[in-house]
Amino acid sequence: MSKRKRPEELRSHRWLGVNDLRAFGHRARLRQGGFDTADFRGKPVIGIINTWSDINFCHTHLRDRAEDVKRGVLQAGGFPVELPAMSLSEPFVKPSAMLYRNLLAMETEELLRSHPIDGAVLMGGCDKTTPALIMGAISMGLPAIYVPAGPQLRGNWRGLELGSGSDAWKYWDEKRAGRISESDWTELEGGIARSFGTCMVMGTAATMMAIAETLGLTIPGASSIPAPDAAHPRMCAASGRRIVDMVWDDLVPQNILTPAAFDNAIRVHMAMGGSTNAIIHVVAMARRAGIKLDMKRFDEISREIPVLANVRPSGKFLMEDFFYAGGLRALMTELNGALDLSCLTVTGTSLGENIAGLEVYKRDVIRPLSDPVSRDGATAVLTGNLAPRGCVMKPSAADKRLLRHRGKVIAFEDYDHMAHEVERDDLDVTPDHILVLKNGGPKGGPGMPEWGMLPIPKKLVKHGVRDMLRVSDARMSGTSYGACILHVAPESFVGGPLAFVKTGDEIEVDVPARRIHLHVAEEEIARRRAAWKPPAPRYPRGYGALYSQHIGQADEGCDFDFLAPNGAIPEPEIH
Ligand code: FES
Repeated sequence: MSKRKRPEELRSHRWLGVNDLRAFGHRARLRQGGFDTADFRGKPVIGIINTWSDINFCHTHLRDRAEDVKRGVLQAGGFPVELPAMSLSEPFVKPSAMLYRNLLAMETEELLRSHPIDGAVLMGGCDKTTPALIMGAISMGLPAIYVPAGPQLRGNWRGLELGSGSDAWKYWDEKRAGRISESDWTELEGGIARSFGTCMVMGTAATMMAIAETLGLTIPGASSIPAPDAAHPRMCAASGRRIVDMVWDDLVPQNILTPAAFDNAIRVHMAMGGSTNAIIHVVAMARRAGIKLDMKRFDEISREIPVLANVRPSGKFLMEDFFYAGGLRALMTELNGALDLSCLTVTGTSLGENIAGLEVYKRDVIRPLSDPVSRDGATAVLTGNLAPRGCVMKPSAADKRLLRHRGKVIAFEDYDHMAHEVERDDLDVTPDHILVLKNGGPKGGPGMPEWGMLPIPKKLVKHGVRDMLRVSDARMSGTSYGACILHVAPESFVGGPLAFVKTGDEIEVDVPARRIHLHVAEEEIARRRAAWKPPAPRYPRGYGALYSQHIGQADEGCDFDFLAPNGAIPEPEIH
């Protein structure tokens, strides 16, 4: 780390500290805002990138929490500036929030670049917001600290604890099977999301917040604090205080995000039983940091690290219980020997120092390595002639019978085709069939929607079937479960082998051997490939067209090719 900065070395000095006509204008505008020179002269300007919005209930509290961050910044002698950014509310943004992750990443980077900002506080949590904010901040390269929104409280219905998403899927099938009534379903609707905060199962939000903390980008313990807990605003203020010192010390993400830090993050992801979506985001964040992360690395680590967090959908409890059990830092103490504890964090201390002395308080929620929730691994990476560049599965959340399986395919050309067919009472389907969905990938979805947990056909649901092997190039929600093989790369829309699968073909999956194979002769696949016509692009203009032209495949992290770290962007001229 370099020596402490002097005020004239602050980036904002170019806007505010010099004595010319432009700086006069900048200072005059700050005074228009009611600030005195003493409020900002020679102080680090902290940009608070806030993804609050009226339609993102995972972030409802971030409007107030930004004030807590400002309190901390002021206490430490900084000047806080809140900069709103797009919110990416997972349930409401269509066709998929993933379509816009890179747009938020670009917005974050350019908000920081174009304003007189010295350091950033990144406020997010709802699924894609975490990787987007971090990707943008890495590319900008200013000191940055991440403030996770934190999970909401447990859901409740008639005394039963409900988990976001997971229990919606579960009770939807119960309703389709006629086991619960319309009024039960309406009551559930009022109980499954009881407070502000992110989904409270080990979905993508909880996984990514934990990964951000493990990477060293948060105040220690931040990611596990439930959103309504009083510790949350205290954490926000502490983050505000800390970022000011990070600016003086010039502690930037590149100092923190090393290959060892990413290995730690993958290990924790596996121990958490984290969302399959995290693979895409971790690869994308690592690439922004100039680190090439192979999908195989995830698989190697998944074979070493069992699932310890007994949290749905792999386990039984919810994130609130995980907090009471000691939270992420307690889980990390269980992995002590597997983590590189020398990794630097935003605190300026090491990961090891940040978790020293912590322990697990509830052994049924955070299990020891000797008695894990599952040894099957949170994420397996499979390859074969159907997925030459890989695909992923969450064995810990699947019916064990399906981890080695060969079956006949029922293929759906797109989502609408699938949605219609699975409701047919006369669909020719058995529990041993393999459902295949095409055109759900980065370009085909578009935006790689969370369609990968294909519904079990209604005819089978009525007979109690709750899991089947399903294969697609889509993603699935981190709250989902089942034997779903996802992220098949390359995707069908660009002519990946999935495009040539037909109803009646056979697929063989061997998860322990990490293999997926389409049992169709190579000559026949070649014939089908020759007859295949690429679909028309989804968007004729606008952001969608830009997205379609530049989006990478799942194994590349679905980042835009032009956002790769190829050379520094010059600082803006101030004329
Ligand atoms: Fe926001 Fe799940 S909907 S975290």
